Amino acid sequence: MLYFRQSASQGARPMKFARLAIVAALIGAGGAAVQADPTDPNAILRANVMKDIGGAMKVLGDIAGGKTAYDAAAAEAAKAKLVADAAAIPEAFKTEGAADPESEAKPEIWTGWDDFLKKAGALEAAAGAADVGSVGAIKASMGALGGACKDCHTTYRTMKM
Ligand code: HEC
Repeated sequence: MLYFRQSASQGARPMKFARLAIVAALIGAGGAAVQADPTDPNAILRANVMKDIGGAMKVLGDIAGGKTAYDAAAAEAAKAKLVADAAAIPEAFKTEGAADPESEAKPEIWTGWDDFLKKAGALEAAAGAADVGSVGAIKASMGALGGACKDCHTTYRTMKM
């Protein structure tokens, strides 16, 4: 999260900083907790889709935070990846599989499946609507994107962000 802290000290507005900090926490940019990977195939599939989503968000977050220069092709690719990955959530999560101590998936996913699908759809919609045409546009889109992650994680992921 260091780069966000640096940009804050360079005068970024506090609200923007807070939002970027949330995104940094979502994508694990702080590297605070290194977790072991799951071993159940279903849990691995889920984690891989989420890691891919995290990677795409990092591309956008790094541009928004000034860590990397704006690159239209990279930003568009990240957006397309987010849309495709969000659309892949239902298939990747449909089978709970064996209990896996490293899985962060709550059982409520499968008891509340329709609501879970709605939250996946909300991310797909937010990603589809995200304007990645400039640094400013990406910054403005990060709130809705990060909100969609957080909304689902709060209910369905054991780790709170
Ligand atoms: C529809 C629900 C949902 C949405 C939307 C969602 N996630 Fe997740 N995410 C989960 C669940 C559930 C897990 C835990 C999966 C598991 O451990 O089996 C998870 C896990 C993760 C992980 C950990 C992967 C690992 O290494 O095990 C990351 C990173 C992540 N999500 C990032 C994001 C980001 C970034 C967004 C938004 C752009 C997002 N997620 C949107 C439900 C969601």
